[in-house]
Amino acid sequence: MNILILLINIITILRFTCAQNDCDVINKLLGKKQSDDCCSEKGITCTNGHVSKIQLTTDKLILSDSNELGNIISSKYFYILPELGNLTNLEYLYLNGNNIKGSIPPELGKLSNLVQLKIQNGIISDPIPPELGNLSKLEELELFNCQITGSIPSSLGNLTKLKHLMLNQNKLSDVIPFEFGKLLNLEELDLSRNELTGSIPPGFGNFTKLITLNMSDNKFSEFIPPELGNLSKLETLNLSRNELTGSIPPELGKLSNLKSLLLNNNKLSGSIPKEVKKLNITINVMGNPSMKKFSILYIVIIVIAIILFVLILTAFRNLKKIHKKRKENESNRLSINSKNSNTLNNGTFTSSTSQ
Ligand SMILES: *[C@@H]1O[C@H](CO)[C@@H](O)[C@H](O)[C@H]1NC(C)=O
Ligand SMILES: *[C@@H]1O[C@H](CO)[C@@H](O)[C@H](O)[C@H]1NC(C)=O
Ligand SMILES: *[C@@H]1O[C@H](CO)[C@@H](O)[C@H](O)[C@H]1NC(C)=O
Ligand SMILES: *[C@@H]1O[C@H](CO)[C@@H](O)[C@H](O)[C@H]1NC(C)=O
Ligand SMILES: *[C@@H]1O[C@H](CO)[C@@H](O)[C@H](O)[C@H]1NC(C)=O
Ligand SMILES: *[C@@H]1O[C@H](CO)[C@@H](O)[C@H](O)[C@H]1NC(C)=O
Ligand SMILES: *[C@@H]1O[C@H](CO)[C@@H](O)[C@H](O)[C@H]1NC(C)=O
Ligand SMILES: *[C@@H]1O[C@H](CO)[C@@H](O)[C@H](O)[C@H]1NC(C)=O
Repeated sequence: MNILILLINIITILRFTCAQNDCDVINKLLGKKQSDDCCSEKGITCTNGHVSKIQLTTDKLILSDSNELGNIISSKYFYILPELGNLTNLEYLYLNGNNIKGSIPPELGKLSNLVQLKIQNGIISDPIPPELGNLSKLEELELFNCQITGSIPSSLGNLTKLKHLMLNQNKLSDVIPFEFGKLLNLEELDLSRNELTGSIPPGFGNFTKLITLNMSDNKFSEFIPPELGNLSKLETLNLSRNELTGSIPPELGKLSNLKSLLLNNNKLSGSIPKEVKKLNITINVMGNPSMKKFSILYIVIIVIAIILFVLILTAFRNLKKIHKKRKENESNRLSINSKNSNTLNNGTFTSSTSQ
């Protein structure tokens, strides 16, 4: 009996100690007293005595009693502390708020159980640490609207479990790393509103699970790779506002699930291929000065139609003339006949004219 109680006590102490290590980090993050039980804080979830989920709306202005996810933070800025990397049981880390400042600490790469990492609307002017490429369980990475600079680290190509990758609305530059070709489980990829350069990698055509691809508002140049036509699940392809050249590949006509194709404001030439037109979807190609407004086929059809119209018109006129002539002839003949019939049989003629 005594042994059992002792055991329970030991377990309780152990659990508390584990949670306390984690809570030391959370309390520092939130500016709370070190003795606080962080597991009862709004936005903090503990599982088996460890912090497993952090979901904080850090912006004071957004925080209110009605927001059950938020936390009141008295400091003006919210810093993502390197100590967060010690929360090895963390599975979800969401931080949202325009008071998030500083950089993303490389120590976050130690969170080997992390499944989702989302940092939104902060003021992070530093690059993405390459260490995030060590988060081998990561399925969702969203670092958007955070003013992040630098290039996309090639190590992110190692995050092969990624389904959602949103790096939109930052200041990312340089080309897309070759290693991205390994992200074969991607369902949603948003790189829009950055300063990315180079071509759209043909390897994207291997992302057969992709549903949304948004690369709008960058500086992507060169041709649209025909390999994109292999993305059989794709519903939205947004390549608008770039510097893409060449013509639209007819292979895009294979995208049977496509709902919208946005290619506006580029430097594309040629016309919309008939394979793509057949898709019966919204296609925006406005703002491509070199693109032909009408296809040659269209012009040929119009020309043939005009020629046919003129021919029919002249034929009709000629027919009318012939008809008129014939009528004239007929009436001439009739008047001759009537003169004759008048003299022969007066009654027959009057009855036929009164009909
Ligand atoms: C927590 O993280 C910090 C900074 O990354 C490190 O210096 C410290 O040793 C860690 N503490 C524990 C208990 O692991
Ligand atoms: C994490 O990634 C960095 C850079 O990508 C690498 O140098 C480091 O060895 C990695 N650490 C671990 C523990 O895998
Ligand atoms: C990706 O992972 C492999 C194997 O784990 C490793 O050898 C390589 O250095 C990693 N690449 C990057 C860019 O971190
Ligand atoms: C697409 O995947 C195949 C098979 O893994 C590979 O051989 C090919 O090089 C990839 N394509 C591109 C353009 O990376
Ligand atoms: C990118 O495109 C997708 C699909 O059209 C859309 O849902 C998303 O909001 C776009 N991203 C931005 C930053 O507008
Ligand atoms: C395409 O992406 C841009 C972001 O650059 C967005 O504003 C626009 O709404 C997207 N278009 C569609 C139809 O989703
Ligand atoms: C992908 O598309 C390219 C070009 O359209 C084609 O040559 C290739 O065979 C396709 N690959 C697969 C796996 O469908
Ligand atoms: C084209 O799409 C519209 C609505 O998106 C639909 O009503 C119409 O039947 C479609 N036409 C063809 C030929 O598929």
